[in-house]
Amino acid sequence: MASYQEEFNRSIEDPSGFWGEAAEAITWVKKWDKVLDDSNPPFYRWFTGGELNTCYNAIDRHVEGGRGDQVAIIYDSPVTGVIEKITYREFQDRVAKLAGGLRSLGVNKGDTVVVYMPMIPQALEAMMACARLGAVHSVVFGGFAPKELAIRIDDAKPKAIISASCGIEGAKVLPYMPLLDKAIELAEHKPEAVVMYQRPQVEAEMTEGRDHDYAELQANAEPAECVTVAATDPLYILYTSGTTGIPKGIVRDNGGHAVAMAWTMKNVYNVEPGDVYWAASDVGWVVGHSYIVYAPLIYGCTTIVFEGKPVGTPDAGVFWRVISDHGVKVLFTAPTAFRAIKREDSKGELFKKYDLGDFEALYLAGERTDPDTYHWASDLLQRPVIDHWWQTETAWSIAGNCRGIELLPIKPGSATKPAPGYDVKILSADNEELGPNEAGVVAVKLPLPPATLPTLWNNDKRFLESYMDPFPGYYFTGDEGYMDEDGYVFIMGRVDDVINVAGHRLSTGAMEEVIATHPDVAECAVIGAADNFKGQLPVGFAVLKAGVERPDEELQAELVQMVREQIGPIAAFKKVAIVPRLPKTRSGKILRGTMRKIADGDKYTAPSTIEDPVALEEIGDALKGIGYPQEA
Ligand code: COA
Ligand code: AMP
Repeated sequence: MASYQEEFNRSIEDPSGFWGEAAEAITWVKKWDKVLDDSNPPFYRWFTGGELNTCYNAIDRHVEGGRGDQVAIIYDSPVTGVIEKITYREFQDRVAKLAGGLRSLGVNKGDTVVVYMPMIPQALEAMMACARLGAVHSVVFGGFAPKELAIRIDDAKPKAIISASCGIEGAKVLPYMPLLDKAIELAEHKPEAVVMYQRPQVEAEMTEGRDHDYAELQANAEPAECVTVAATDPLYILYTSGTTGIPKGIVRDNGGHAVAMAWTMKNVYNVEPGDVYWAASDVGWVVGHSYIVYAPLIYGCTTIVFEGKPVGTPDAGVFWRVISDHGVKVLFTAPTAFRAIKREDSKGELFKKYDLGDFEALYLAGERTDPDTYHWASDLLQRPVIDHWWQTETAWSIAGNCRGIELLPIKPGSATKPAPGYDVKILSADNEELGPNEAGVVAVKLPLPPATLPTLWNNDKRFLESYMDPFPGYYFTGDEGYMDEDGYVFIMGRVDDVINVAGHRLSTGAMEEVIATHPDVAECAVIGAADNFKGQLPVGFAVLKAGVERPDEELQAELVQMVREQIGPIAAFKKVAIVPRLPKTRSGKILRGTMRKIADGDKYTAPSTIEDPVALEEIGDALKGIGYPQEA
């Protein structure tokens, strides 16, 4: 067996050989002409000339290959009390019929479809039905407000939207149809059809002529076959937060994605076909796309669709119950989920109640696993706890501990080493590669490996500006950090206005855009402040227009409500201070970085270009008033 270092070196020295070999795990209609097409850098493409269907690889070929009776999906929903097991054969039938139904509504190869669904098996059916037709899905997370959904509808221009009548968040039942109606009203682009899955908890009121009942459509349709697409055709668009209010439409291709997904199941997660694999995330995030849906199914595993929370559904033992009931081998979630469990059951009393015989390893991502959380989880589980670093842009880990190749010694606080395919470098501001333990911007030397973004949806220009232009020849990750003398990667945070709240990626710039529209606000800033539970939380600062004399509490409540209504509850925007001015340089740049340091209790020096140093003291006082910096 090759060592990690051998595999890594081979992937960098001979990417075509390395990924060409990995591509044998995929069933192709037609093999590629070129593994790596580098004819138009920095637009690299993988497997050009190849043809396949992703849904065929995730479902049909397993049925044909003898896995028809194996469970493909276990839906475990503590919020409704339902546990449902769906075999590959049943899933194939349901997906083929839904695809036929979508086709009858005019959805065909190349069309886009927005999927706005909670964590139910129908969300996976919807995604796979699109993939089957060669249509491009764009899943929007349920915690986003109608305006955010409308922005995505206008960018993706879907022919149809597939949704469900409600989501269930712990004890709260959230009807979706009013949100969807509002989003369609706000959007300029109007989809031709809405396909609505009626859940028993809420009946959605249907709009004549626009809306179709999911179950009826599925039951009455002719099953659709898998439509062949080019390896380089888009499989999906997934919007993610950038530095402004307009999210970035990350594009995923079919061929490179399928290859990388299959490769990671063995090499990163060390599972085998037939194993039970569980990513406790949501289909609305990239972790959900890659590791609830595509990778486990392409690899022939059983995946778990969990509709619940790590705590409160019903208690902090639910993860252990699910692992034990279903024989889960690998669990993947965000560190914040473990902090939630630790908060409720710090001694692990609930953990002791379950037999976790099949469970081999825990993987964490979404934010850095802080050493405290690492030690707590590792002491409790007595199994490898693996931090791995990745992004919506990449679809899989840029750095991690590739247990399937070789389990490297773990260094708490580090995401271990670059995964094969990613030539990670630390750069100075003027594009010089830095040495061990020198902190800088984290970049990846081009080309990136398969499954990573080929571009942004209909926006090559923004793709170049955001990722390729800042450091020519490298992909700019937006993160800062360092690599130590052993080549271990330490990711310390973002260099832009992106923050991570409970493992969810959000844009402070987008929140500022909302607050700035309040009639009494003259200017504002939002920063991400370190939070003991959610990793980071947004904190806002608003300067009022001259002459406004209203109680701070009233204004604060209005600003919180505006962000909730326009971005969504998931922004977790609850703290905003009214301040007399914002600290700025003489040229007018707001000192957000220094404000963040004050909020986090870090040392800082006021830049010599500061306009008025008193403004920083005022920020410190305001932060103290709302509980920052937090006590460790
Ligand atoms: N639909 C609608 N609302 C949603 C939602 C959804 N799908 N998901 C979350 N929300 C709401 C929550 O109900 C909450 O609303 P509130 O302000 O009325 O209480 C708000 O958005 C913030 O949600 P969240 O940050 O998730 O906080 P929480 O207190 O509900 O849960 C955790 C905290 C840690 C338990 C939860 O975030 C979690 O399990 N995270 C880890 C797993 C994960 O999803 N990672 C993602 C990438 S791997
Ligand atoms: P997302 O696109 O939502 O997956 O968020 C990606 C961002 O989350 C990265 O750019 C990092 O800032 C952060 N992130 C994700 N995983 C990790 C990790 N394991 N360690 C440190 N930061 C992480």
